[in-house]
Amino acid sequence: MGGGRDSFFLTPLDRDTSMGILNLAELKPDMVLASDLKARNGRFLLAKGTRLTTQHLRVLKIWGVVEADIAGAESSEEGLEAAPEIDPAVWKRAETICRERFILTDLDHPVNQKLLRLSILRKAHELSGWRPHGVLQAEPSLPDEANGAGTEEGLSLLDPSQLLKEEVRLSTLPVILAQIIETINKPNSSPKEIANVVSRDTTLSARLLRIVNSAFYGFPHKIDTLSRAVLIVGTKQMSALAMGVKVINIFKSIPCDLIDMKSFLEHSIACGIVARILAGHRSITNTERLFVGGLLHDIGRLVLYNHMPHEARSALLAAKAEKRLLNDLEDEMMPWNHGRIGGSLLKKWRLPVSLETITRYHHAPTVAKDPTEPAIIHVADIIVNSLGIGSSGERLVPPLNQRAWGLLELSVNTLVLAVQQTDSQFQELRRFLL
Ligand SMILES: [Fe+2]
Ligand SMILES: [Fe+2]
Repeated sequence: MGGGRDSFFLTPLDRDTSMGILNLAELKPDMVLASDLKARNGRFLLAKGTRLTTQHLRVLKIWGVVEADIAGAESSEEGLEAAPEIDPAVWKRAETICRERFILTDLDHPVNQKLLRLSILRKAHELSGWRPHGVLQAEPSLPDEANGAGTEEGLSLLDPSQLLKEEVRLSTLPVILAQIIETINKPNSSPKEIANVVSRDTTLSARLLRIVNSAFYGFPHKIDTLSRAVLIVGTKQMSALAMGVKVINIFKSIPCDLIDMKSFLEHSIACGIVARILAGHRSITNTERLFVGGLLHDIGRLVLYNHMPHEARSALLAAKAEKRLLNDLEDEMMPWNHGRIGGSLLKKWRLPVSLETITRYHHAPTVAKDPTEPAIIHVADIIVNSLGIGSSGERLVPPLNQRAWGLLELSVNTLVLAVQQTDSQFQELRRFLL
């Protein structure tokens, strides 16, 4: 691949043959390392010249290695080498569609280049009738334009604090969720405590067991009981997961005419999955918290869509007509944007501060006091918008905050791995949660 914008997208089948860097999913036993391999924290793992074994590959996964320099290897195209060949005309069409989504991004940045390329590949495969694990790229639906959009009489005069009060009333926290939150907020809650709380809700228990036994965790043996799941996954992690499952139920109970709720939930779940994967590469222990952060990050939009439907409708229509970011139009047309109102709602619900911060700052992560977790959600949101998995109303890929990306110290290859892992987890999790 050349570095220039045009040469980058010349043909569907041009392969990066300049380096032997392969991502983890492409590594196979008997491949030979062309240079020393180190873990993310700099720890030396394997010497140049080592012939990889199955055991090595397991260890590399545990250490969060995302790529390795392999002797004589040619980097394949985003791990999609098993996909059928793409007709150049289909590729061109896919490129035109995807470039539309990237109009606000800086295509000189390697992250955006990689995401655009991944997005075109997926779109081209979709247009050819081949879909990775059935993940569809979504076109967000739009509200009916004739339905009072932007008219003076349609404007809601609610003030933000009133709006928040009404929202809290609208979706009172279920008892179990309140108890889960209480357990999470206690500094030393025991595995038994969380197992006790969760087991009072049989649907929740069954869902959690299904998730624990899915590709989301990829454990080699079946986990039959909740108490065992808590022991293996961890108390904090299981509490966060339980909270996520209950929160999705709240989403489902909020009526919304302005957008397709299924698409909203898909965007949220995909964002949660990607965020958890990125958090794993940052060696964050409770990656489930980032999963919940991804589920919740756009919850403020549901508040706006419900309580300021006229302004929200105008913002959605203007975003499409003017090809602008929905978040910017919220700033212009509403008293609070969705990050701010979502953060305030989570604060009212007494959710952990980290989730409030993630939600409040995911579009401006470097404004947060501790920007790491909002930065993870910021990048996860960009990845999911690039791939077009569901939508919370946004049609365009938000611009990447380069300082936030730099802060995460992730390799561009991590994006490829994250997309592959998301594909393998999304459908299953979607089935369990929706
Ligand atoms: Fe957002
Ligand atoms: Fe989002």
